[in-house]
Amino acid sequence: MIDKKDLREMLSLEEKPDIENLFEKAYQTKLRYVGNKVYFRGIIEISNICSKNCYYCGIRRDNKNVLRYDMTDNEIFVAALWAYEQHYGSIVLQSGEREDKQFTDRITNLLNTLKKKTDGKLGITLSLGEQNKDTYQKWFEAGAHRYLLRIETSNENLYRRHHPEGHSFRRRLQCLQDLQDVGYQVGTGVIVGLPHQTVDDLTEDILFFKEFDIDMIGMGPFILHKNTPLVSYNGLVKKEDNFLKTLKMIAATRIILRDVNIASTTALQAIDPIGRELGLQVGANIIMPVLTEIKYRTSYQLYEGKPCLDENAAQCRGCLEKRIFSIGEKIGYDQWGDSPHYFKKQER
Ligand code: 5AD
Ligand code: SF4
Repeated sequence: MIDKKDLREMLSLEEKPDIENLFEKAYQTKLRYVGNKVYFRGIIEISNICSKNCYYCGIRRDNKNVLRYDMTDNEIFVAALWAYEQHYGSIVLQSGEREDKQFTDRITNLLNTLKKKTDGKLGITLSLGEQNKDTYQKWFEAGAHRYLLRIETSNENLYRRHHPEGHSFRRRLQCLQDLQDVGYQVGTGVIVGLPHQTVDDLTEDILFFKEFDIDMIGMGPFILHKNTPLVSYNGLVKKEDNFLKTLKMIAATRIILRDVNIASTTALQAIDPIGRELGLQVGANIIMPVLTEIKYRTSYQLYEGKPCLDENAAQCRGCLEKRIFSIGEKIGYDQWGDSPHYFKKQER
């Protein structure tokens, strides 16, 4: 049984030795339950066109300062096949949210072709937002087997505060449920350090992951983007605080959930040059190298200060490898690196 009070205390630690103890305990838990192998998910940001308007996000619909793009099928194949040839076990296709048939059919076709081109061996994760169950089902049948959809915050009131009319917390929950019912390994997560978010909210977020029997977690620090309504919080948001809070969230999530996959997100590296390595050292076991062509990268900035905007995928691979070996971890090349939790759930 998880004691909510203990969890809250973990997230409230302030003294350096206490925080270091927490991190060490999380790392030991990681070694015991998922080992010291890091799995890569090459992420291809296929389009920044979005029908949603989340207040915190740099590519929200109403941000007119963004040059919108949509990668061609061929560009997507080139990036995906590069990942496959480099022995990355899997890729993630991510984009702004669109539910129109033209988009959903295109994804189905892309999945079918990608599976054929890689003999069904390349693992494909989707991160394409809220969709109806039928669409999730079609994409699953076409070969996607993991899906990422962050709850962003498990506090419905806070969710409402950071999303305009037309966004619905209930629908988000329904989508997570549908994804599980269809059979995906489901990933969710939150933004850490959103204005008005409390330590109680973060405590509840981890309990939410547990209750929802989530397989994969992705959490990143909130980073202000100046072309969003949250610009009014400029000066009030301390990136470094959000960074430390995120590390504590990763550590506490590892200690409580044990056998799930946890991503060390790029947003950590946007704040600290070795942010992703630190994420691995406090319990994360997944890294998502960006494979998007350089010419599109500047247009896919959900937050400011996104790293490696001028580094292509090949440079990124060499750099990452060095960084991972430097902290004594290994890389699970050619493996899907599925969440052990998902299989244990099946046995149950
Ligand atoms: N800071 C941090 N994370 C953000 N996201 C969107 N905007 C921001 C921001 N300003 C995250 C959301 C979304 C994911 C793809 O990016 O959690 O689900
Ligand atoms: Fe669109 Fe996702 Fe950004 Fe929300 S967070 S505006 S859904 S891209």
